[in-house]
Amino acid sequence: MSIKIEDYYPPATFQRMKAFADKQETPFVVIDTEIIANAYEELGDCFPFARIYYAVKANPAVEIIRLLRDKGSNFDIASRYELDKVMAEGVGPERVSYGNTIKKAKDIRYFYEKGVRLFATDSEADLRNIAKAAPGSKVYVRILTEGTASADWPLSRKFGCQPDMALDLMILARQLGLVPYGLSFHVGSQQRDIDVWDAVIAKVKVIFERLKQEDGIELKMINMGGGFPANYITKTNSLQTYAEEIIRFLKEDFGEELPEIILEPGRSLIANAGILVSEVVLVSRKSRTAVERWVYTDVGKFSGLIETMDEAIKYPIWTEKKGEMEEVVIAGPTCDSADIMYENYKYGLPLNLASGDRLYWLSTGAYTTSYSAVEFNGFPPLKSYYL
Ligand SMILES: Cc1ncc(COP(=O)(O)O)c(C=O)c1O
Repeated sequence: MSIKIEDYYPPATFQRMKAFADKQETPFVVIDTEIIANAYEELGDCFPFARIYYAVKANPAVEIIRLLRDKGSNFDIASRYELDKVMAEGVGPERVSYGNTIKKAKDIRYFYEKGVRLFATDSEADLRNIAKAAPGSKVYVRILTEGTASADWPLSRKFGCQPDMALDLMILARQLGLVPYGLSFHVGSQQRDIDVWDAVIAKVKVIFERLKQEDGIELKMINMGGGFPANYITKTNSLQTYAEEIIRFLKEDFGEELPEIILEPGRSLIANAGILVSEVVLVSRKSRTAVERWVYTDVGKFSGLIETMDEAIKYPIWTEKKGEMEEVVIAGPTCDSADIMYENYKYGLPLNLASGDRLYWLSTGAYTTSYSAVEFNGFPPLKSYYL
């Protein structure tokens, strides 16, 4: 398989990124912020009625926070450290949602003292903590979703609760003096099956109706999380197609009068904007007659490519070298045998690839820099540059 740059970047954009990259020492990620700005606008055009909360975990760089702040985005925050970071850039607490269902009571208090009033939950213990530490706040319950098999990076099992528990939690929220505000879900990151949204929106509708009819609780909001696609090797539908279908599902269940809709994109906003540039350290074979080559690069699982775990995310890899291709195993530079990115999925790289050649990992703007270890084997965290 050979990767064509034009399937991923407009030629002028790639040239700009490569010209900059040529002057830097590998490994690093170069991010073109114009691509992020365009992706933000495209998402807004596709879902004109939705409020966007950028999932900061995808890439917490201040350059990205500032760009999205100026575009009017809100922020989905996972920890007090992310909160401090966005607030230091002048983002007000009314633009923040504490989206992590796993949090300490003292951190809930911290958010509350900073002025945040919107909290996710999926358990009674957490809800009781919110009631104590953030009295009177709005809460939304995250529900479990199906779709693990069709998401490249599933999130469904760890977070969320069954619909019956969501009902109980919303009723308890009211008893505890909180505002039962809405429901959330996340269909799994890089979700390739759009129909998964259909099933979960139908579940949401049932919970809305039952709470209204049986308990007089009128929920106001659906937080549809992330899951929208980035451009990797495995092709997906376009964002427009996702949006058309999801809006159809929403209207089928809720009619023209939709509740407040929140989206929490991470990957789909940022991934395509980044190129991770690495250098080949070694190319070797394990025996005199081995057919397969091992290509070791100066980045690996511990320096930003953790989403290659179980070969989940398959990044497009491009090189300037041309010629006959052969299957390779691709591995990182550390002394850990887990540091193999691709072995089962057969990447092909040119036979004349040699030490010192560069590999360009496309669509690596999201979930790379923030996942990079700080000092494993002494290697520093992955550098990033913002154009
Ligand atoms: C609560 C929450 N919202 C949004 C996202 C972003 O999802 P994605 O990167 O698929 O857009 C995540 C990802 O982990 C998440 O945990």
